[in-house]
Amino acid sequence: MAPASSSEFNWGDALAELGGPSPGMLNIGVACADRHVAAGAGDRVAVRCLGRGRERRDITFRQLSDLSGRAAAVLAELGVRPGDTVAVLLGRVSGLFATALGIWKAGGIYCPLFAAFGPGPIRSRLELGRARVLITSDELYARKVAGARSSLPQLEHVLLLGEDGACAKVHPGCSDFGALMAAAQPAPSVSTRPDDPAFLHFTSGTTGTPKGAVHSHRAALAHLATARKVFGLTEADVFWCTAEPGWVTSTAYGVIAPLVCGATALIDEVDLEPRRWYGILHDENVTAWYTTPTAIRTMMRFGAALARSYRANSLRVAASVGEPLNCEAVLWGEKALGVPFLDTWWQTETGAIVIANAPGDGRRPGSMGRLLPGVEAAVMRCDGSEAKPVESADVVGELAIRAGWPSMFAGYLGDGKDPSPCFRYGWYFTGDLVRRDDDGFFWFVGRVDDMIKCGALQIGPFEVEAVLMDHPAVAEVGVVGKPDLLLREVPVAFAALNPGFDAGDALKTELLSFARQELGSTMAPREILFVAELPKTTTGKIMRRVLKAKAVGEPDGSDALSVQRPCPGRYDDE
Ligand code: WT7
Repeated sequence: MAPASSSEFNWGDALAELGGPSPGMLNIGVACADRHVAAGAGDRVAVRCLGRGRERRDITFRQLSDLSGRAAAVLAELGVRPGDTVAVLLGRVSGLFATALGIWKAGGIYCPLFAAFGPGPIRSRLELGRARVLITSDELYARKVAGARSSLPQLEHVLLLGEDGACAKVHPGCSDFGALMAAAQPAPSVSTRPDDPAFLHFTSGTTGTPKGAVHSHRAALAHLATARKVFGLTEADVFWCTAEPGWVTSTAYGVIAPLVCGATALIDEVDLEPRRWYGILHDENVTAWYTTPTAIRTMMRFGAALARSYRANSLRVAASVGEPLNCEAVLWGEKALGVPFLDTWWQTETGAIVIANAPGDGRRPGSMGRLLPGVEAAVMRCDGSEAKPVESADVVGELAIRAGWPSMFAGYLGDGKDPSPCFRYGWYFTGDLVRRDDDGFFWFVGRVDDMIKCGALQIGPFEVEAVLMDHPAVAEVGVVGKPDLLLREVPVAFAALNPGFDAGDALKTELLSFARQELGSTMAPREILFVAELPKTTTGKIMRRVLKAKAVGEPDGSDALSVQRPCPGRYDDE
């Protein structure tokens, strides 16, 4: 089977649509807001944010254009220059949109951080991203950043953003972003080229520090095209993406995709609450919904009757990303919601959806779907030192994408002139093992590395191990994913202790809370198991696959694939 591709599709059409105002220029902030105002759509609702009591905060395209111009002016005044990183630590609040668009219009790099992270991961990402400016809330600042401020000398400015523009408490060393914006004159966007950097998301590595994947303004072409292809988005849509800002899903499909399509982007401040979510789908006339398999599995536990009692009449399509969407969840979702439920595949590095069960393409529940137009992909097998595309169907190999699609990350921070080893022979190797069936549908098999997939969050074992190693009791530690029915995997730690420490429950509790404090509860291990020593290779590397087999309860970990079971049917017993 030849690598799938689509020849009729032309990315130039999307560039012609989103580019400007001057020839050859593309700025995501302009493409998301100012372009619609210039086209006479300034009064349409661009953003609808639901507060805790489900109160609505609507922002029109005209207001978004004005607010983001003010944000850009404030940033420029503080010395933000094209190519500077501006870190953002916010929940799903209305100010997120003007903040992101303002950073783009100032020529900066929008770098949202995950608000559920503890102070440790936030500090390391601020350092790695060399952020000179952080935009956050007074509450998140006090809980997660203030304690580390003195060890972040490059962080010159912290701007605090309150809901409705009012910041309750301006901490020492911080400024009130809302007040500065109110006093500023909206600045026009700086001119950016399609390949200028626009956003930066950290993704976890199995070794070393988190990797910052940089994307350019050109990525918006892929957001426009995929939003149309998968969700059929138009100006008439209300698009609800449930992702938190730290995830690339929020940047790509929470912010950029609906706005470039001229649709209304809906966000809800509150985390998953099934009854509330059904209410929102119904009352807000959501037409297209993008969420995660974990969310759907949680909603399944509340039963289809609840879903049907709220049946959202406006909904046309629902989809998920981040982890395998098992066949049962697809069928349940379709029955409960009464609309097609689509699995989509992509990664932080791909910047936008690459594979999907797009409507009209023949869906196959349990599979990730087919390749979208404008991208070329292959299933690669290693043959000696060379990797070759697999010609036949149903052979497991590593998914690779031909380099050069618009939302391809430009590289990892700090790569310098040496491209990352995941680029080989003109292909980007994704680290995912897949098979492709006779009809071109891709099926997820597992990862080639030790990444832990906890819900839609990818956790690098190294980052968790490094924190536990900071505790005086811990001599060595290995962190792996243990199967979990709801989240698929949760991190668990195997620790060997230093002499003089008692391997009892009191120490377990202490280590767990030590990890939670530093890492935040999503990333911290759920369990600690004490071992006399850790299994090592002859070169002294911890053999995580042996620990993984232990965590899974299998006798040996000699075959890494044996613990990476294919997704379909995994939840058969639910
Ligand atoms: C990894 C990327 C892109 C949004 C959030 C996650 C896994 C993603 C699917 C899917 C099976 C999936 C892959 C991928 N993944 N979508 N539909 N089926 N696995 O971004 O943190 O960069 O994680 O998530 O393993 O490589 P991310």
